[in-house]
Amino acid sequence: MLSHRLANAINQQIIGEFSSAYLYLAMAAHFEIAELQGFAKWMRVQAQEEASHALIFFNFLTDRDGRPEPAQLDVPPAEFGSPQEVFKKVKEHERKVSEAIDSLADLALAEKDHATRALLDWFVTEQVEEQALSSNIHARLKLINGDPTGILALDRELGARTYVVPAPLAGRI
Ligand SMILES: [Fe+2]
Ligand SMILES: [Fe+2]
Repeated sequence: MLSHRLANAINQQIIGEFSSAYLYLAMAAHFEIAELQGFAKWMRVQAQEEASHALIFFNFLTDRDGRPEPAQLDVPPAEFGSPQEVFKKVKEHERKVSEAIDSLADLALAEKDHATRALLDWFVTEQVEEQALSSNIHARLKLINGDPTGILALDRELGARTYVVPAPLAGRI
């Protein structure tokens, strides 16, 4: 069974992942209003991934006889700026999430909970990808520097993103 401390930390992470999903959905709505449907699609896929991350932790918690404790989600900002500003926020957000995952991994190691540590290995790798991806898109938006042709080309590219069920969630819901 999970320690009380680890169960609490995983519960917090579930709220964090659902809050991330909600943040990215808000960003999707922002882009839909701006008629940037490709950016919006990318954000919807991102939101779906975050909700999947929450479910992975949720399933792990119940598998280990932990008790999920629902709590209030973070409220996304009401206003977002240009695509470049939005992706700066995504980049900063993912950096914070990586720190949270690293702290969870530290705790799992300190408590010698190898099952939790093994699950967190997947998340540590996932965060490297998330940070690389958001940082790449942000860097490209800096180069585009608000040029409509560049924005529309990127919009087309980002619209091709599709949701893939993350490995730890495969075969479950
Ligand atoms: Fe996540
Ligand atoms: Fe993420």
